[in-house]
Amino acid sequence: MFSRTSRVVVASVAGLLCTTYLLLPGHASIVGPGSQQPFVLTESQAVKRVAVIGAGAAGSSAAYYLNEYADKHDFKVNITVYERNNYVGGRTTTVHAYDDPEEPVELGGSIFVQVNKNMFEAAKLFNLPIADYAGGSADGADQLGIWDGKEFVVVISGGGWWETIKMIWRYGLSPLRTQNLVKETVGNFLKMYEAPVFPWKSLTTTAYELDLLPATTNSGLEFLKSNNINPPFTTELIQASTRVNYGSNLDHIHGLETMVAMSTDGAMAIAGGNWRIFDKMVQTSKAGVLLETKVTSVERVTDKHTWTVNALKLDGEESHRLEDEYDEVIIATPWQFSDITSKSIPAPEEIKYVDLHVTLFASPYRLSPKYFNTDKDLVPDMILTTLPKGFDVHSASVGPTKFWSVNILRTLERKLENGVKRREYLYKIFSPEPWADEQIYEMMGLPKDSKNVLSWSHRKLWQAYPVEEPRSSFQEAQLDFGVWYTAGMESFISCMETMSLSGKNVAANIVEGWVSARRSEEVPGQHDKPL
Ligand SMILES: Cc1cc2nc3c(=O)[nH]c(=O)nc-3n(C[C@H](O)[C@H](O)[C@H](O)COP(=O)(O)OP(=O)(O)OC[C@H]3O[C@@H](n4cnc5c(N)ncnc54)[C@H](O)[C@@H]3O)c2cc1C
Ligand SMILES: *[C@@H]1O[C@H](CO)[C@@H](O)[C@H](O)[C@H]1NC(C)=O
Repeated sequence: MFSRTSRVVVASVAGLLCTTYLLLPGHASIVGPGSQQPFVLTESQAVKRVAVIGAGAAGSSAAYYLNEYADKHDFKVNITVYERNNYVGGRTTTVHAYDDPEEPVELGGSIFVQVNKNMFEAAKLFNLPIADYAGGSADGADQLGIWDGKEFVVVISGGGWWETIKMIWRYGLSPLRTQNLVKETVGNFLKMYEAPVFPWKSLTTTAYELDLLPATTNSGLEFLKSNNINPPFTTELIQASTRVNYGSNLDHIHGLETMVAMSTDGAMAIAGGNWRIFDKMVQTSKAGVLLETKVTSVERVTDKHTWTVNALKLDGEESHRLEDEYDEVIIATPWQFSDITSKSIPAPEEIKYVDLHVTLFASPYRLSPKYFNTDKDLVPDMILTTLPKGFDVHSASVGPTKFWSVNILRTLERKLENGVKRREYLYKIFSPEPWADEQIYEMMGLPKDSKNVLSWSHRKLWQAYPVEEPRSSFQEAQLDFGVWYTAGMESFISCMETMSLSGKNVAANIVEGWVSARRSEEVPGQHDKPL
């Protein structure tokens, strides 16, 4: 119980949207069962060549489902995945505490939930073990505290998270109303996994049809207020959740993403790293994978329905150029960070991303109760933050806490040189600015010139997710005939599961296009059974 709830809020990215249920079998779409045999040999019988740019959640899923749908409908595909990093996973990746491969720790996407259909089903299918989280320090500290820079406004000692929250009298009915609103919004979202909504062509139209626009066009603060969910519940608790999950205060994140941040059940992660799901997806897709290969341009081939992809393969100091031709190109990365040029593709919308500094470190020390202004012997294992009372609720700033969250992920056994083992804590800090060693010492109540406080540390600046300001329209997935884009989904809901779903949606649209092209080539009447 303790460990589960201790991840609840941090984990909550996974919940809502990341929940899903899948395609109904038998409907008239390419995702239904059965396949049809081609009647005559035509152009559609040729091997379809597909380039996937980016091997994160979206690109890996696109390759995986494309291979599956193509198989099912008797298309031959040759998929090439281009990835400029030397690893598969993108923003879902691990580093190793003490540089010890036995101690992986998530540097990016950390948690998903059982209702995250794509993630959960793939984990089962690929036999990947769910991480066995002890969670927290096991020192008997409170599980979670929400700090406003002066004091803890909420402390939860353990047990059922929602149950505890509902007992806080000053929140009135707001917690209950939130739970119901999350349920309702999730229910609408889940239709995106099923026909007739899936596969969708227009995210904007889909959001409208599923009645999700009231959530996306208002800030979390306004959306909650219009549903009679009010401060201090919103400004303390819900804001703590949007801050840890999306580096955003409640008036600068839309209502849908706020609901995602509040849907919390059954958090989990893959032992060794969530990237293993995407690695298996890429392998299963039988795609050729080009690591350390950066796509530089995508151009239309004159007079043909094909595209030229130019790339640079980095070989240590040297790099050499690659050029290849494809029927379909899937751009599975935010365009603005990709450095891809194109004279022929209409560039997707550029959106603002949250700069998130992740600071990981190991230390034998705990954080100082004095720094956090508490009488207790131990500060909570997980510290979320919010703005103090009286602070402008419309502010985008992190406020006096200066960080979004700090928590003890787990304890570690550090092997010292003499063979002795020392118990240490593994910490993670999220902040909008870099968090220096001296700031860590200060949090521990140690002098600025302390030595040997940190036995290991790792820092990373991510463009983690979009600044989820309210909006009523979204970048569509099809950029041009044969060119597709997954990252429009991110300003709707950004997490591993939804990016996987975005990749899957593109794959389904592509194969649906092939199926209808084949249909139109067939002799009428010869082959008119439904898909
Ligand atoms: C710190 C942090 C914590 C998070 N926590 C969670 C969480 O708990 N749960 C959750 O569900 N989500 C979480 N997320 C969000 C989640 O990680 C992302 O939404 C998801 O991984 C994005 O996947 P993607 O495939 O769309 O993009 P990316 O993972 O960014 O993949 C894009 C890939 O394209 C490659 N690329 C870019 N340009 C080129 C080029 N020109 N040529 C070749 N390759 C290129 C990049 O190298 C990259 O590998 C978190 C993110 C961060 C940063
Ligand atoms: C896929 O295409 C590449 C060329 O881009 C080629 O080298 C490879 O043999 C092809 N694979 C299959 C299975 O056809």
